[in-house]
Amino acid sequence: MNLTICVCAGDGIGPEVTGEAVRVLEATAELHGHDFSFEAHPIGGAAIDAAGVPLPPSTLEACLASSAVLLGAVGAPRYDGLPSGQRPEAGLLALRGALGAFANLRPAVARGPLLGSSPLRPEVVSGADVLVVRELLGGLYFGEPRGQVGAGAKAEALDTCRYSAASIERIAHVAFRAARSRRRLVTSVDKANVLATSRLWRAVVSRVALEYPDVELEHQYVDACAMLLVTQPRRFDVILTENLFGDILSDQSAAISGSLGMLGSASIGGHVGLFEPIHGSAPAIAGQGVANPIGAIVSAAMLLRHVGLVTEADDIEAAIAYVLERGDRTADIANGALPVTTSTMGRRIAEAVAEVADMRHPYHAV
Ligand code: IPM
Ligand code: MN
Repeated sequence: MNLTICVCAGDGIGPEVTGEAVRVLEATAELHGHDFSFEAHPIGGAAIDAAGVPLPPSTLEACLASSAVLLGAVGAPRYDGLPSGQRPEAGLLALRGALGAFANLRPAVARGPLLGSSPLRPEVVSGADVLVVRELLGGLYFGEPRGQVGAGAKAEALDTCRYSAASIERIAHVAFRAARSRRRLVTSVDKANVLATSRLWRAVVSRVALEYPDVELEHQYVDACAMLLVTQPRRFDVILTENLFGDILSDQSAAISGSLGMLGSASIGGHVGLFEPIHGSAPAIAGQGVANPIGAIVSAAMLLRHVGLVTEADDIEAAIAYVLERGDRTADIANGALPVTTSTMGRRIAEAVAEVADMRHPYHAV
């Protein structure tokens, strides 16, 4: 298969982790005889520096014309003073919008070798396997009007939370379909005791559920869900929720995996998918070679799965499991062990891709 992959590395640790994801994708392409070409394009703060805007037209055009987009992270403290539309984050939101990426899938799994890296007790977290399905193009992130009027003591600011029935319906279908290939439980998360958008959310999700009689639906308030996610993470299968709640709950679900650096995501719905780790640019550790590239590498596996390269995606997942089983750890998941660098972790996973493929075909090497 020929794939043109747009690599928008962005800011902070973005370039380090996407570099390792590209290395793993290259190893996978070579092993399976595919032709992947990678095109680097600036986004976020890197694009503000290079072109004056967080999403330059050249980046957007390249992304729209690509097979898929692999993104690192955006944001850096030195842009904090900019108005919201000019900040690095605005570039990512505009890209999600332009790609029509309304569905953000964020899996969090408790992996056996990392049980000791979780702040949650092993007996609480062991066996947990959650998929957060986050609506990505609505709610407070995109609602108008927004902004600030006045200054000083007279300043007022507002954001608008807006959801249409149609936008709730399409994300609900994504969650129910995902549940069908999992444990068939959808937990829809809202704040319907307070918010009008949440009451519409609950009504629409309940209606969509009628089309999936084989999937169980439950509703939870977001505050209760936040608590249950860390006290009883195993009780969840698919968590379906709106944009801001999904942003928060998906970071929280990283406690299940041991580190924010472990989680990848797929932002899909349009013709071109966007694949990004859920962590941020982590300016405090940028450039030091200590970041965990696994979230970016998991995202690369999700990219391949999305374009139909299922065996290849499975190989990358198996390679990650293999190096973790063997004891390779970056600093965030070291839990007392001697950590390896970002690039060592990436190289070991890239090498393991070939090893696990050999194990899949026991006579392949003979
Ligand atoms: C994420 C990030 C983004 C979001 C930011 C960088 C705009 O936190 O992907 O979760 O809030 O969606
Ligand atoms: Mn986030």
